[in-house]
Amino acid sequence: MYKGKVVLAYSGGLDTSVAIKWLMDQGYDVVTFTADVGQTVDLEACKERALFIGACNACVMDLKDEFVHDFVWPALKANAMYQGTYPLTSALSRPLISKYLAKIADAEGAVAVAHGCTGKGQDQVRIEICARALKPDLKVFAPVRDWHFSRDDEIDYAKEHGIPIPVTKKSPYSIDENLWGRSIECGPLEDPWTEPPSDAFTITADPWNTPNDPEYIEIAFKGGLPIALNGIEMDGVSLIARLNEIAGKHGVGRIDMIEDRLVGFKSREVYECPAPVVLLQAKKALEKMTLAKDLIAVKADLELKYAELAYVGYWFSPLREALDAFFNQAQKVVNGVVRVRLYKGQSVVVGLKSPNSLYVNDLATYSSGDTFDHSSAVGFINIWGLPIITWKQVHGFAKKEDGYENSVVLDKETINSKY
Ligand code: ARG
Repeated sequence: MYKGKVVLAYSGGLDTSVAIKWLMDQGYDVVTFTADVGQTVDLEACKERALFIGACNACVMDLKDEFVHDFVWPALKANAMYQGTYPLTSALSRPLISKYLAKIADAEGAVAVAHGCTGKGQDQVRIEICARALKPDLKVFAPVRDWHFSRDDEIDYAKEHGIPIPVTKKSPYSIDENLWGRSIECGPLEDPWTEPPSDAFTITADPWNTPNDPEYIEIAFKGGLPIALNGIEMDGVSLIARLNEIAGKHGVGRIDMIEDRLVGFKSREVYECPAPVVLLQAKKALEKMTLAKDLIAVKADLELKYAELAYVGYWFSPLREALDAFFNQAQKVVNGVVRVRLYKGQSVVVGLKSPNSLYVNDLATYSSGDTFDHSSAVGFINIWGLPIITWKQVHGFAKKEDGYENSVVLDKETINSKY
């Protein structure tokens, strides 16, 4: 019985290819939607595969610009790294994909949308919450979560139904990729004692196979966002892509962590994020130069909160919007140029300059002629130290009645017996 249209988020891989046929068998027409967020797949082939399997429409959209402007840049302004380590590569693309699933469902008059996530991941949570936040009455199907096929069952099903099995090299890893990095899971990585094998990585070189000379780059920031690389102004998509290449060549951007998943268990996760790692590092250094001390301190807590919202699927929450307003304000003065050295898997900030610098050389210098008022130090210390000195007078070892003001014989025994 015909049940209507379903819009399926289609990666072109085996799971979602089988899902097209499976949904058709359940009585649905399937419209596939593939978001181009900078992943290295042949999108034309992906579209053809969807239509060949039987999709009634296959839609591929270049969303790289929108991904960068509406998701990556706000996250960068917020220095968003989940648990201080993961730049949210996959997590940031899900609200965007969800938004278009909902829009296409509207345009196509679909009865539901569908995704290929399993029941153990967090992408299912993000996609379902984000899509329903935008279109509350939307039904979301998760065929891969429901059908309990093993990989072999899936391949058998694909063969039986004439579904072309994507001709990728047999890989033990589960990969998700976009401009903001590459997430690598499963296979040998499930053992936290095993060093990630070289074949897990594709956009970063092994640090022992990188150029023997350091490379210096300069990133210009305006309002907390990068606007130029090595003096050349670039749009966000090009800048991230170029930085991925340069830093990746030096083996910069590998992350290996035990991550606390939203679905309750700890997971070993490996990422390659050359551009995010360098940009976050460079911008944080520039913030130290341009932002007030208390703002930096308060902001650190909110950065973790922001990252957590993106991670747990709360992208479209009022708290995230309010935090955006905070970070936009805080980033207004984060302008300047950061010089970074890339060498053998490491990036190091080696130079900073900013028109908004709060670093004043005349105050900081130890050379003669500085403008710091040395004589104020005495009064400052008296008042600044007053609470501590008062406390110690009342509770500490140097009580007046013990005669601390009298001179004593300075041998260890006398000192210890007295104090
Ligand atoms: N642990 C990461 C996250 O939750 C990576 C997810 C990768 N997704 C995937 N479908 N392979 O954001």
